[in-house]
Amino acid sequence: MSSNLGWLVGKHWRAGVALLAAALLGGCHDAETPARVTHADAAVAAPAAAPATVKPSLKRWVRYPEPPAALSAAASLGKQLFFDASLSASGKMSCATCHSPDHAYGPPNGLAVQLGGADMQRQGTRAVPSLRYLGFTPKFTRHYYVPGPDETEDEGPTGGFTHDGAVDSLHEQALIPLLNVNEMAMPNPAAVVARLQKAAYAEQFRQVYGVDIFEHPAAALQQATLALEAFQTEDPSFHPYTSKFDAAMAGNADFTPAELRGYGLFNNPNKGNCAKCHIDTPGPGGRPAQFTDFGFQALGVPRNPEIAANRNPKHADLGICGPDRKDMAQEAEFCGMFKSPTLRNVATREVFFHNGRFHTLQDMLHFYVERDTDPAKWYPKVKGKVIKFDDLPPRYRANIDSLDAPLNRKAGDAPALNEEEIGDLIAFLKTLNDGYSARSGAARSE
Ligand code: HEC
Ligand code: HEC
Repeated sequence: MSSNLGWLVGKHWRAGVALLAAALLGGCHDAETPARVTHADAAVAAPAAAPATVKPSLKRWVRYPEPPAALSAAASLGKQLFFDASLSASGKMSCATCHSPDHAYGPPNGLAVQLGGADMQRQGTRAVPSLRYLGFTPKFTRHYYVPGPDETEDEGPTGGFTHDGAVDSLHEQALIPLLNVNEMAMPNPAAVVARLQKAAYAEQFRQVYGVDIFEHPAAALQQATLALEAFQTEDPSFHPYTSKFDAAMAGNADFTPAELRGYGLFNNPNKGNCAKCHIDTPGPGGRPAQFTDFGFQALGVPRNPEIAANRNPKHADLGICGPDRKDMAQEAEFCGMFKSPTLRNVATREVFFHNGRFHTLQDMLHFYVERDTDPAKWYPKVKGKVIKFDDLPPRYRANIDSLDAPLNRKAGDAPALNEEEIGDLIAFLKTLNDGYSARSGAARSE
């Protein structure tokens, strides 16, 4: 076996890649013995050479969720809450204003951060994430241990909702925008309940939670946030799995040669290496690839002048260690780290990274591969000196990932991906957009 196979078996999630590589070559695969794949190294060494005509047939180990026959009473209330602009101080903003259902529940425009508040003029400080595919998000933990073949590996901080992992559940998350002064800006919980009471669905709310529910404002608010969680959990629009990628993995579509090359680069540990953090293989129980490991990294994304808070040179969004998140302020080794998001539907976005610094996949990928080879292109110069990693105070800059490809190059090296390869990678990323098929993992015509 070539040395290439080392990285395949070195990490539990690489096993799936080996399976897939074997399948691309038309080799046999067996979900029960993922690490013992033969002939996989050839495919990994030259993924682009794998014949595009061979259909990967991996159906039996991807289990797509069964859509519920109907939404529960809570979820159908949650759906109405999600679209209800009367729950904001301005009367103009609902969850859907920022999490647009026509944009995979991500931002509807190219603004780095959205405008909200009572006058709809207040800027937040972070880009709006997609609400799709959050269902498998584990609770935040400082150290996430993965059993490896030889030893247990510490994958570092993992999980939790929002860019800094501060929130444990979708219902706790739902309360935050309702009361955030830059978002829906309701003055207090009682004011939210008063609006609920006047809403078109108030009667339905009483039927589901009891005729006297509004006499218990704390309980009413709790039920409202649980209803929002139920909607996001149950409604198939939050986890459709209708991308071309899913169709290809189920054997119902073929990647084009460019998509297949992009897929190879995505998985190649010396080139894109994207799959290291944006896992593209099925998880436990055959659950479909989530395109994230829910882990945190400091990538050194440049400071974004589009965010007004950044005009104050003392302001720095440190991710896990604050200032938004309060409980980890002392954990200096986590400063600058943000959660790796899913890449499903990423090609529908116009803003990338926690601070929305990039607006095209082209620019974002050029940053990944040229951050270290040509830092002057990405960071400002002060007195003739390039301030690399300018969005993080100097004392935390050692936290920034410079070990994982493509972030492991040196000034003057060739970037990990050339122009053509970036084009191929983008072609692959586009296969992650939902809407290719009508059903999870189905062919386009179905
Ligand atoms: C003004 C725009 C805005 C509105 C309105 C808004 N959100 Fe968000 N949402 C955001 C931003 C920005 C983040 C990222 C926050 C962070 O990282 O601190 C976010 C994060 C989230 C997350 C976490 C996603 C993840 O990747 O972990 C969930 C869930 C969520 N919002 C649900 C809701 C719900 C439910 C509503 C309505 C009650 C809502 N949002 C209203 C902007 C908004
Ligand atoms: C070492 C882990 C790691 C590797 C390798 C990696 N990423 Fe990421 N990726 C992250 C993290 C962490 C973030 C969030 C960073 C932030 O917001 O500051 C991220 C963010 C992104 C985003 C922004 C998505 C959004 O919704 O804003 C895209 C797109 C992306 N990565 C694509 C890729 C591609 C393509 C590759 C391969 C060339 C790749 N990543 C390699 C960890 C990684």
